[in-house]
Amino acid sequence: MTESWATFGADLHLDLTAGRGLRAGLTEAVREAARSGRLAAGTRLPSSRTLAADLGIARNTVAEAYAELVAEGWLTARQGSGTRVAERARPRRAAAAAAPVRRPARKGPAYSLIPGSPDLGGFPRAAWLSAARRALTDAPNEAFGYAVDPRGRVELRQALAGYLARARGVYADPGRIVLCAGFLHGLTLLAGVLRARRVREVAVEGYGLDFHRDLLVRAGLRTRPLNVDAQGARTGELTAAAGAVLLTPAHQFPTGVALTPERRAAAVDWARTTGGLILEDDYDGEFRYDRQPVGALQGLDPDRVVYLGTASKSLAPGLRMGWMVVPPALLEEVLAAKGPTEWASGALDQLTLAEFIASGAYDRHVRGMRLRYRRRRDELVAAVGDRVGVSGIAAGLHAVLDLPEGLERSVLQSAAWQDLALHGLGRFRHPEAVALPARDAVVVGYGTPSDSAWSPTLAALAAALP
Ligand SMILES: Cc1ncc(COP(=O)(O)O)c(C=O)c1O
Repeated sequence: MTESWATFGADLHLDLTAGRGLRAGLTEAVREAARSGRLAAGTRLPSSRTLAADLGIARNTVAEAYAELVAEGWLTARQGSGTRVAERARPRRAAAAAAPVRRPARKGPAYSLIPGSPDLGGFPRAAWLSAARRALTDAPNEAFGYAVDPRGRVELRQALAGYLARARGVYADPGRIVLCAGFLHGLTLLAGVLRARRVREVAVEGYGLDFHRDLLVRAGLRTRPLNVDAQGARTGELTAAAGAVLLTPAHQFPTGVALTPERRAAAVDWARTTGGLILEDDYDGEFRYDRQPVGALQGLDPDRVVYLGTASKSLAPGLRMGWMVVPPALLEEVLAAKGPTEWASGALDQLTLAEFIASGAYDRHVRGMRLRYRRRRDELVAAVGDRVGVSGIAAGLHAVLDLPEGLERSVLQSAAWQDLALHGLGRFRHPEAVALPARDAVVVGYGTPSDSAWSPTLAALAAALP
């Protein structure tokens, strides 16, 4: 039988083998912990008084056990620095047993234009910190407990409702906003809801992110590609076989076109006549450069569109914060999929984002980043626009550079020689999108580099192009 004790101050877990004398048992337990490497060299042990109190034994017993281990060289005892595990008390087969598993060092390319990330150096640390301080100061005690509402904190849902209505044209009642840990989490929940409704097929854009499609497939849904052209996804080709369609109407990912009003209307008509749902991925809707942002499709029919937003482009993907505005008829099912409580995002992050939005800091940050990205976009066009066709540049953080036929692969190869990570358009193509015309192009995520890396990254791209 083994027994465990823990100290306060610094916890020390010891397995004391019953049946030995107290002192011998304690000595052996500490020796074994040091020998096996579980207690690393340099680890400070509790004082003999504290450990004795924790174990309910006489202080002398602990002091004698420590003294014996010091004499054996397992521990060191120095005035002022307490009793520590000795440097040489390494596990005997240290090299073999305790060597950390070494993974090959993954040194990525020096430059990256992989789309999907904002400039992480632009995260508004100071403004976020002051919002966090205010949020923490004002947080009621109940915010530190288990959340009772699976939709998430009402403070954030109210702030989002106001923001989404004002900035994105979304009909957003705080009661129908459900917070999620980014778009991926929202889509996971919706995929479960669709399966529970016995939906088998979801239409997706012929160009899109493979891991979004994979997520749907893992949930038991089949994905069917819609053709994408200069007006966006061809929503007129939606059929009753699909129970839902996943769209990026404001800025098609990755081709960058905005879904035209006719195509938007066709999607809503399809949803109304078939009872299908539109899943609107509004991942970078805030970033439109030449005119007012295109409003959300959800505004056309809040009963048929689930609006999904995320802080991943406007702030940072590491926050893992997203939100859904759910049609009334779907709310119960989405909440059932989420479970009885909000477990995915922490209350303090939610309260901080609520404060960040309500104080106007979110708008200021988005406006500042918009200027930064527009400048980069203009520099991109100036640098390469005379050699390749640049499209998808009215919005977002990426652009598409069309290449002469057959050159996609060789441009990616030259980019690799320039130490530049770059994606071709081909990797975003749905494997069954046979009707999509061939298109050789690269997708340039000009939001990705830091400000200091931007110029050399652009130079590397220019050098890689024909
Ligand atoms: C098309 C698209 N949708 C959604 C997202 C956001 O995903 P998440 O909120 O899970 O970070 C991204 C981010 O790169 C994206 O490119």
